[in-house]
Amino acid sequence: MKRLVQPEWLDTLPPDDPRAVHSRRDLRRVNAWMGSRRLLAQALIKDGPGDPPRHLTELGAGDGTFLLGLAQILAPRWPGLEVTLLDLHENVSSRTLDAFADLGWRAKVVVADVFDWPDRAGDQAGEAVIANLFLHHFENARLAALLQQVSLRAGYFVALEPRRAAWPLFCSRWLGAIGCNAVTRHDAVVSVRAGFSGHEISGLWPDPSGWELAERPAGSFSHLFSARKTK
Ligand SMILES: C[S@@+](CC[C@H](N)C(=O)[O-])C[C@H]1O[C@@H](n2cnc3c(N)ncnc32)[C@H](O)[C@@H]1O
Repeated sequence: MKRLVQPEWLDTLPPDDPRAVHSRRDLRRVNAWMGSRRLLAQALIKDGPGDPPRHLTELGAGDGTFLLGLAQILAPRWPGLEVTLLDLHENVSSRTLDAFADLGWRAKVVVADVFDWPDRAGDQAGEAVIANLFLHHFENARLAALLQQVSLRAGYFVALEPRRAAWPLFCSRWLGAIGCNAVTRHDAVVSVRAGFSGHEISGLWPDPSGWELAERPAGSFSHLFSARKTK
């Protein structure tokens, strides 16, 4: 199946449109079905940055509940982390931010296009970047430019994306059965077609020397890529 990137409806709807609100709720259910929180937490704990990062950014963080779920697992190992939730839209509630604070993590929201990602004073080794259901939004050329930015800023990067394969595509057509709305059903099929297989993300990483790259299928529906700086 050839990779095909098409617009997703959730990206074009105003954040407070009821269809978008419903779809963001669906996304939590879809992430639960995909086991995304467990898969990313395992990747971060087992093969993640050697030392705990000082700062973690999620690209395309949505309403922040995915990262909050990760924080519930990681906070005991990585206390006092500073996190940035970056997204095109302002979706993160004050309740979600308070929940980060309850776990001892300081969370900040940045509303920006990822290609205008504001600069942070450099501490590359202490910076980890994650993405969940995000990289597949971009055509290869833009994705290569984004990975270049990531490689200049972070000592560790991990992304969990849809796996572009027959089984995830089949299942993406059945999301109505778990109550997902038309926006989610549309975007799920588009996302799988724009997803990844093989070593496609590694092939777009700028300069692999000095990095340990890993890329593989994860769970039943996902594709995992990670990059760890080795020098
Ligand atoms: C499928 S959602 C995933 C949200 C979250 N990671 C999760 O798993 O719940 C993709 C998110 O990427 C954001 N997004 C899309 N294009 C973006 C861009 N160019 N810059 C920043 N965020 C973007 C959308 O607003 C949306 O919240």
